[in-house]
Amino acid sequence: TKHLLGIRDLVPQDIQIILDTATQFKEVLQRPIKKVPSLRDVTIVNLFYENSTRTRISFELAEKRLSADTINFSASGSSVSKGETLLDTVNNILSMKVDMVVMRHSASGAPHFLAKHIPAAIVNAGDGINEHPTQALLDAFSIRERLGTLEGKKIAIIGDIMHSRVALSNIYLLKKMGADVTVAGPPTLIPKHMAESFDVRVEYDLKKALEWCDVANVLRIQLERQNQVLFSSLREYNLAYGVKKSLLDNLDKEILVMHPGPINRGVELDSDVADSKQSIILNQVENGVAVRMAVLYLLAGRRGEG
Ligand code: CP
Repeated sequence: TKHLLGIRDLVPQDIQIILDTATQFKEVLQRPIKKVPSLRDVTIVNLFYENSTRTRISFELAEKRLSADTINFSASGSSVSKGETLLDTVNNILSMKVDMVVMRHSASGAPHFLAKHIPAAIVNAGDGINEHPTQALLDAFSIRERLGTLEGKKIAIIGDIMHSRVALSNIYLLKKMGADVTVAGPPTLIPKHMAESFDVRVEYDLKKALEWCDVANVLRIQLERQNQVLFSSLREYNLAYGVKKSLLDNLDKEILVMHPGPINRGVELDSDVADSKQSIILNQVENGVAVRMAVLYLLAGRRGEG
């Protein structure tokens, strides 16, 4: 496949190859010289129509570690404000001999639209409420690194499932790799028919979800994507669905705590949990670079080139 638009399109073997390739790149990243020449003939544009800290820096670092040339484009500060379309913008950039496009956009399906109209390879770095495939891959990599496998592991995805592309990509990936998934949160933030559509459990009681799982992947309330108030207040959300140390201390096992970032401390996750040794949040961020190196390397067709 030429693009990475979503986890939905992948088969388990694709995911396995990406994760195994990422393991090799993680070893490279432990060396004093963290750079390989693999993509020195490739130019990549990071096209961000929506804000980002982790994903953008992670892709840029992954590209630099692979010796690719990189261009960073933000919609803000560009000629998008003068009315230039997405397609015109990308075609202009590609005419300068750019080979691959890493793209974040607030519109679900924007990278799929682009894939139909341009010759370059596209990596989806998050499209609206649809998918965030490299986040799910780095989450899976981080779970596999700690627990050895995804098969049979119990993962609770907690919070704003409705507006989360991280939740959707994680559900696709975890189910394909044989994990058990529960989505947990308030009924207003979990889409109807979730259980039937995605073969996941749905749990409205946070304590029960935490008692069940091996891993809690906690999500941010995405206020910017909500066009109506779906929870009375952030303080009440924290009281009912915030992941707290007292809840974790009462469990009979030590679960792993994950979060894709950015964290709203004191809302979905309390600081003493985010900063505890149960939390692998910064490991996720570290692993993101190796996972994105693997994705770019494989899409460039470099597998088997040594
Ligand atoms: N996890 C994630 O996508 O973070 P950013 O929005 O900062 O890239």
